[in-house]
Amino acid sequence: MKTDFPDTAPPISPSLTAGAGALTVRMVGTGCYVPERIMTNAEMETIVDTSEEWILTRTGISERRIARSGQATSDLAASAARQALDAAGVAAAEVDLIVTATISPDMLMPSTACFVQSQLGASAATCFDLEAACSGFLYSLEVARHLLLAGRMRTALVIGAEKLSAFTDWDDRNTCVLFGDGAGAVVLRAEPATAPARGILSSVTGSDGDLAHLLTLPGGGSRFPASGETLAGRMHYLKMTGREVFKHAVRCMAEAANGALEQCGFTVADVDWIVPHQANLRIIQAIGQRLNVPMDRFYMNLEHYGNMSAASIPVALDEAVRNEKIRPGDVVLMVAFGGGFTWGATVMRW
Ligand code: UT7
Repeated sequence: MKTDFPDTAPPISPSLTAGAGALTVRMVGTGCYVPERIMTNAEMETIVDTSEEWILTRTGISERRIARSGQATSDLAASAARQALDAAGVAAAEVDLIVTATISPDMLMPSTACFVQSQLGASAATCFDLEAACSGFLYSLEVARHLLLAGRMRTALVIGAEKLSAFTDWDDRNTCVLFGDGAGAVVLRAEPATAPARGILSSVTGSDGDLAHLLTLPGGGSRFPASGETLAGRMHYLKMTGREVFKHAVRCMAEAANGALEQCGFTVADVDWIVPHQANLRIIQAIGQRLNVPMDRFYMNLEHYGNMSAASIPVALDEAVRNEKIRPGDVVLMVAFGGGFTWGATVMRW
């Protein structure tokens, strides 16, 4: 097991090195929950005009998990959160902040994070949802990190949770084969900074609203309130112009990865594991080529879960930690892209 850190610490962001009393933010526990029901590509063939072979070769996905009809996103999120709290040895009562990244909230109001708080009995927490589509988990990490660095809170739960099956158009073969349900969670703690630096070292986030129309869930908001017309127009389901999204995803994720590495003084050669958003194997392969990183340094599980949007990265991260792929001292780069468009990358030392 790798436990020794290099003698020379990399340069890190000024907020983390501001003299005595400086704080760092570290993940002290991870957890995940995926529904028991597995939907295979063979079953997809019985739903839409597709083939096992098309789905696997175009996306790398073999199967995905589907939540029960009575299960809501907060139920998945709370299960993942309990596991993360157990792993961290942190009681729900110690949680000051709960941020839930999701595009499939239980309801438009109140936030899914408040339902999670109630399920966990985390009465002291400040709770809100953050919507940045598939980049939501990395955005939420960044927001939570800065709230902790401000010094008024010590412990945060950051959760990515989705019940995308509730927003999937099961008549649309272009999208329904891609998505799955699940949730991942991490416990963040503000701690006195150490040298060499551990925890979250750097992060970049970006968005381009001019391209919002390429990936949407248009119905049910204030632009198109629920009506007979929105129902007939299937506007309460995810819509995506896949090929365009693909192109931008590769470029933005490669640029974000390089930006986050540059910010903490690393190059890709310093990275032990890349945990990318799990949308499409071909997207990840293209990023590998752009960054000049072999595929065995990417942690992937999309074959079994498909695209779980904001839940993809925290579920993959939890798996990689539990099966001891990611070990203490490892440098981990997480990178995401999604609707908005939004993107982000985060570097941490585990
Ligand atoms: O999570 C964040 C954002 N999401 C993503 O990053 C997803 C990005 N996009 C993609 O992963 C890919 O674009 C897709 C997997 C969605 C599609 O793959 P593609 O290689 O870009 O295919 P395409 O959209 O260019 O479609 C190729 C053909 C079309 O037929 P024609 O028009 O060439 O005759 C589609 O109708 O494949 C057809 N097709 C299918 N055929 C069988 C589309 N979906 C299916 C399907 N089964 N499920």
